[in-house]
Amino acid sequence: MTDHQSISLDWMSPDGDELRPPADLRPEIPHPARMYDYYLGGKDNFPADREAAERVMALSPMVRISALANRAFLQRAVRHLAQQGVKQFLDIGTGIPTVGNTHEIAQQVHPDARVAYLDNDPIALVHGRALLAGAGHGRATVVHADLREPDAILDNPELHKVLDLGQPVALLLFAILHFIDDADNPYGIVRQLLDALPSGSYLALSHGTSDFTPAADQGKGAAIYRNASAQLTTRSREQVLRFFDGLELMEPGLVTAPLWHPDQEPRETDATTGIWVGVARKP
Ligand SMILES: C[S@@+](CC[C@H](N)C(=O)[O-])C[C@H]1O[C@@H](n2cnc3c(N)ncnc32)[C@H](O)[C@@H]1O
Repeated sequence: MTDHQSISLDWMSPDGDELRPPADLRPEIPHPARMYDYYLGGKDNFPADREAAERVMALSPMVRISALANRAFLQRAVRHLAQQGVKQFLDIGTGIPTVGNTHEIAQQVHPDARVAYLDNDPIALVHGRALLAGAGHGRATVVHADLREPDAILDNPELHKVLDLGQPVALLLFAILHFIDDADNPYGIVRQLLDALPSGSYLALSHGTSDFTPAADQGKGAAIYRNASAQLTTRSREQVLRFFDGLELMEPGLVTAPLWHPDQEPRETDATTGIWVGVARKP
């Protein structure tokens, strides 16, 4: 897609108004969901997104490696959780759908698995709804919500149509918490969401880090995101570990994305890929 017009045409759905693009796309402002789509090799992005993403990649080729490793972790983690018996998934910061989305993987294991996708990005929402409008998917919904408003998330009637919060739920926070800065209380948000879920629920998250970025380059990526619609706050391993306080971290603990139950040959970059990941059970 190269401009606003071509995106609008893609969104003319037989399902009607709900799939029409909201007015607030702001294609001139780089957006994290569309930049991430570009890192992954997707086409749902505007020139401003591509330009910002190229600048980040010029700083470090590891950015694209990290994005791909993050997406692969998402898929392994969802499959692993489904195999543990989890049938409900609350996926916040869904992103633009690509191959191997949460509901597709979960429903390979449990055809009746339920997924609520939440995102605050209009492009991610419209593409998500278009994906789910097709035949052959189980119970899943796409909801407009902001992670910084956990009360609104927990009260959202659409979410409650799909998820029963009285039964265990896997809370999925993949590559989103680094868009929540400290002033917005990310630890408190995660705690509040987990407090609303019963014992036997899970937290799976991935989080960008600068732990492996040379000192001279620290902060340069964040500087580019400063002009985007969400700011980047990378966190250290110790800071990411805090999100799991009070939970039982599953094997192999908090590791870089490629090292979590790997399913491919090891690569030299595995231990320094800039994404910490972990999966934990609520006791
Ligand atoms: C890097 S993408 C990650 C997509 C997917 N979770 C994955 O890991 O492949 C980050 C997503 O988080 C969304 N996001 C960022 N800040 C958000 C917020 N405050 N509330 C809801 N979604 C947010 C963006 O719109 C984007 O779709």
